[in-house]
This record gives sequence, structure tokens and C-alpha cells, in this order.
Amino acid sequence: MRTPIMAGNWKMNCDNEEAWQLAAAIADEKGDVEGCEVVLCPPATALTTVLAAIEDTNIGLGAQNIFWEESGAYTGELSGPMLLSCGCEYVIIGHSERRGRFGSVADDFTPELQKVFGESDASVNRKIKAALSYELTPIVCVGELLNERQAGQTDEVVTSQVRTAVDGLAADQIDSLVLAYEPVWAIGTGEVCDADEANRVLGVIRGIVAECADESVAQEIRILYGGSVKPDNVVGLMQQAEIDGGLVGGASLEADSFGELITAASASVA
Ligand code: 13P
Repeated sequence: MRTPIMAGNWKMNCDNEEAWQLAAAIADEKGDVEGCEVVLCPPATALTTVLAAIEDTNIGLGAQNIFWEESGAYTGELSGPMLLSCGCEYVIIGHSERRGRFGSVADDFTPELQKVFGESDASVNRKIKAALSYELTPIVCVGELLNERQAGQTDEVVTSQVRTAVDGLAADQIDSLVLAYEPVWAIGTGEVCDADEANRVLGVIRGIVAECADESVAQEIRILYGGSVKPDNVVGLMQQAEIDGGLVGGASLEADSFGELITAASASVA
């Protein structure tokens, strides 16, 4: 039985005051959660604020990014030891917004801006190796663009992303990853992926894990779904056999809606 995870990716939202309010409200409602790992991933500026708010609760802390070097002349970057010193246990790696694969492209988002962070599959792989070396749990994101889905390339895209992400990792290292399937067209658009289809793609991803590691790792690894997860669709998603939880943007920015998602994830194994 895989323990589900409900992770809130706050993206570039919440100053320190707002982060405190939100984390404290979630801690108040769900601090004693059992049967589900709850992870808050605030912006880096609010990591220690959120840590203070979730102290003595069952809620964990995650960062939204990591750089693979330990220290040095890398302006603006954050290393594994820095994240550990803020109390992080998890780190999101390879989010589509960092790979430059945007689902809901605003008019002023030129192709140049879309590639602004420019993360490649290879840099995702380096970041995963760095995170593991500091015993941070990577939450590794993969997913196809709308035009790739329309062209029938979904399985091919996620297969390639997962294979490169785990390249050079031993089976026991792959075992300590969390994977997240986030179809880019479903992120921030309100257009959730059909639960059966999300389950199918997660099955494909589990199959790739079996090939890259082994069958027991494939059965143990947690794979999340992300993309417009909301209180009104979470139960259907969590009922799916392959879906082990959610990576949530918008609905994690409000304590009541995130609380409902946590309840649904916990209930899915009860
Ligand atoms: P939304 O839940 O806002 O669609 O965002 C999903 C996401 O990108 C989580 O990482």
C-alpha cells in the first residue's frame, strides 16, 4: 500500500505575512493528518516562515527548485545544504514552468519568455542526483504540451522525460523519488485531465520505472497527478488505482480547499 501525498506548490505567491497566515491555517486544520503525507512548497523567501508555522505538525516542507552545486558563484541559485538548513525534506524538480513549457500562455508571454528558465531533461537529471545526495526527496514533474497530446505523442514525451530524469540512478535511488504527471495543458487552466486518462498515463510511467529499476520499485514509487486538481474533482482522481496523490497549484493557496484535498487523499486509503 502506497501512502498518498498531497503537495501544495505555491509557485510565486505569498509574501511572508501571507505565507504565515496560510500555513498556520492549514496546520490548524490538518496538522495532525495521518495516512497521507502533506507537503507545503512555498517560495524560497517563505520557507523558514512556513517551517515555523508547521513545527510540531505532521506537515512537511518542500522547495520549488534546487541547483546542483553545493556553493559558489551562482547568483540567485539555492543549494541542497541551503534547503536543508531551512528545514526542507522535499524539492520540486523539473516543473513545466521551469522547463519553459507553459500551458496557459498569456499574450505577453513571448516564446523567448516561455524559455526563460530553460531547464532541460539533462539539468533535471543533475538536480535529482544533487537532491538525493542531500537526502531531499525530489518531486519530479513530467508532462506533455497540448500540441503534443493532440499529435498523439503523450506517452512518447513522458517516456523520454522519465527515462532521462532517472538516467544513471540505481534502483534504490529511483525508489526514493516521487514522480508527478502534470499535463501542461491542464495546469492553471481549470481543464483537468480525465481521471481514467490520467490513470492510464500514470500506468505508462509505472511501466517505465519497472524497466529502469524493477517491478518492486514500480509498485512502491508514488506517482502524483497535477493540473487543476480541485475539491470537486479530487475524489474521482484519488479513486484511480495508479494515482497516489496530487501536486496542486491554485487550490493549495486557500486553507479550506487544500484541506478538502487532504481529506480526499487520506480517505482514498482508508
Ligand atoms: P494548478 O493546480 O493551479 O493547475 O497547478 C498545478 C501545478 O502546476 C502544480 O505544480
